[in-house]
Amino acid sequence: MEVVIVQDAKAGGELIAEAMASLLSRKPDALLGVATGSTPLPIYEALAAKVRSGAVDASRARVCQLDEYVGLPADHPESYRSVVLRQVVEPLGLTEASFMGPDGTAEDVQAACEAYDRALPEAGGVDLQLLGIGTDGHIGFNEPCSSLASRTRIKTLTEQTRVDNARFFDGDIDQVPHHVITQGIGTILEARHLVLLATGEGKADAVAQTVEGPVSALVPASALQLHPHATVVVDEAAASKLK
Ligand code: F6R
Repeated sequence: MEVVIVQDAKAGGELIAEAMASLLSRKPDALLGVATGSTPLPIYEALAAKVRSGAVDASRARVCQLDEYVGLPADHPESYRSVVLRQVVEPLGLTEASFMGPDGTAEDVQAACEAYDRALPEAGGVDLQLLGIGTDGHIGFNEPCSSLASRTRIKTLTEQTRVDNARFFDGDIDQVPHHVITQGIGTILEARHLVLLATGEGKADAVAQTVEGPVSALVPASALQLHPHATVVVDEAAASKLK
């Protein structure tokens, strides 16, 4: 695992967008795994700026989701499908055809999870998977105690994660779904390159445990230590508890 400490979130976004641009120049139809939440926004802004300036051609890029709420209509503004379309697919000038994600509205959610878990390798596998990290060390929505070998499946959000995400639902926790579909940790570990961005002091404990603690299901992100090509980019605040 390599750890890169940058000054702030903007610098982290630039660095990772540069790595994505370099991947796209080597492999124009790369499959990019994207995360949602606040952390990756500087990455998406920096990459979209490169596309607008002509510095990178993303026209053949493909994008896939890490996770999705269960039961939110696909066109709800906070479904992760809508968020990824708005924050990544449209700014990069891509079409919905280049985008895949799990179906959070499926009647048979278990079948939808299994279908998505199969669809990723069938699409050639994820070339670069972006990850954020929860204050409790979750990646995707693999909350503490998730199996490190887990596959795409339905999970119940912890109260803490629902509180954290209420800001996307007018601050109203009652609007935050209880269930999500998430790529499992075993699924995530199959991506060729994992890139985790963590910014802000609130992530400092989780980062220290991820990087310097033992590999443990109690800190799902610590599974990155098992991956042959994992990059953890942290700003100075998130790095403040590293030894
Ligand atoms: C979202 C996701 C989550 C977030 C994490 C951090 O797709 O997979 O693991 O990355 O909850 O969220 P932010 O970046 O909002 O602090």
